[in-house]
Amino acid sequence: MQRTILVTGGAGFIGSHLVRLLVNKYPDYRIINLDKLTYAGNLTNLKDVESRPNYEFVKADIVDAAAILQLFKDKGIDGVIHLAAESHVDRSITNPTEFVFTNVIGTVNLLNAARACWNDAFSGKRFYHVSTDEVYGALAPTDSMFTESTRYDPHSPYSASKASSDHFVRAYFDTFGLPTVISNCSNNYGAYQFPEKLIPLFINNIRNNKPLPVYGRGENVRDWLWVEDHARAIDLIFHKGKNGDTYNIGGHNEWKNIDLIRLMCRIMDAKLGRPAGMSEGLITYVKDRAGHDLRYAIDSSKLQRDLGWTPSLQFEEGIEKTIDWYLANPDWLEQVTSGAYQQYYEQQYKGR
Ligand code: NAD
Ligand code: TYD
Repeated sequence: MQRTILVTGGAGFIGSHLVRLLVNKYPDYRIINLDKLTYAGNLTNLKDVESRPNYEFVKADIVDAAAILQLFKDKGIDGVIHLAAESHVDRSITNPTEFVFTNVIGTVNLLNAARACWNDAFSGKRFYHVSTDEVYGALAPTDSMFTESTRYDPHSPYSASKASSDHFVRAYFDTFGLPTVISNCSNNYGAYQFPEKLIPLFINNIRNNKPLPVYGRGENVRDWLWVEDHARAIDLIFHKGKNGDTYNIGGHNEWKNIDLIRLMCRIMDAKLGRPAGMSEGLITYVKDRAGHDLRYAIDSSKLQRDLGWTPSLQFEEGIEKTIDWYLANPDWLEQVTSGAYQQYYEQQYKGR
């Protein structure tokens, strides 16, 4: 094998798309997927690549510094693409501490292990940290988009923990010369997203005729990017990005929540053979999220200019494709909502 790449959080939503891309595109790389398998980790997402000779799964917790160091020693890791995180804002409001452990301490443990094992011989090595646009805070409706030099201003415990981890990654580049790179991406959507996030939750609820809980007045704006375009951007930045640099990733695709929800209702009424307007009746305005950021919008022109990346899908096409995927995979949704997916590791991997 030419290179050994450690992907953390590869059983999650974005991580599983990235692992699939890397395993298929680089047969000469050994791809190690390290994941704790929290509620958000789902190994059934990777059934199609789990038997490939260049793929390996390791169940481990990045908060366990000794286990992470041992893994680096045992596996001869050349590159890290770090996605493992607690990622849901609402959960960070109910349990902020878990976000500090995984997102901050877990990241520092990985940085320390890379430093210890690479031992200042950094040629051919890279530590890539995958982050979010939420570190930049919230925009007013008329503000211009976040750029790579926008001042950090996180508001939720989730974004505060991601901002903190970004600072540590930069500090290890500045202080120790560790070859790091960071990207900050906007909201992703697509197949295999855990149905606690807006798009898969609402698709599932529309499908089951359940209420659609819109926070506040639905006026908040998010900038949506198809997850496979994010995975392509990560691959590009990992291979071609500059050490010490940050790249913003986004789709130039801002949607007010309520407009997006109405669009999903319209598409799904047509696909489910319901009378036009029926699913909109499920919309239920509920208490706003505490500290709810009004608007995110990201300027990804640096990535487009320097590395030639552009999103491949228009949103109207992407959202339809995504709805089609969830409707074609009711078993996946049912296994996730029932918790059955959590037995897959015991059934398929243990004792291998
Ligand atoms: P996710 O919640 O779907 O997956 C996270 C994965 O990390 C899961 O497989 C989980 O089991 C694993 N994990 C959690 N704690 C761990 C620990 N202590 N040790 C090892 N593994 C652990 O998240 P996602 O949406 O795929 O996001 C992946 C990364 O991308 C995160 O770092 C997130 O901050 C970032 N990001 C996400 C979005 C988005 O819209 N989803 C946008 C920009 C950036
Ligand atoms: P989410 O998918 O949780 O992503 P993030 O908070 O990281 O942007 O939420 C996207 C938007 O949808 C956000 O403005 C909150 C809103 N939202 C609802 O209105 N209702 C819901 O049930 C959820 C989960 C989110």
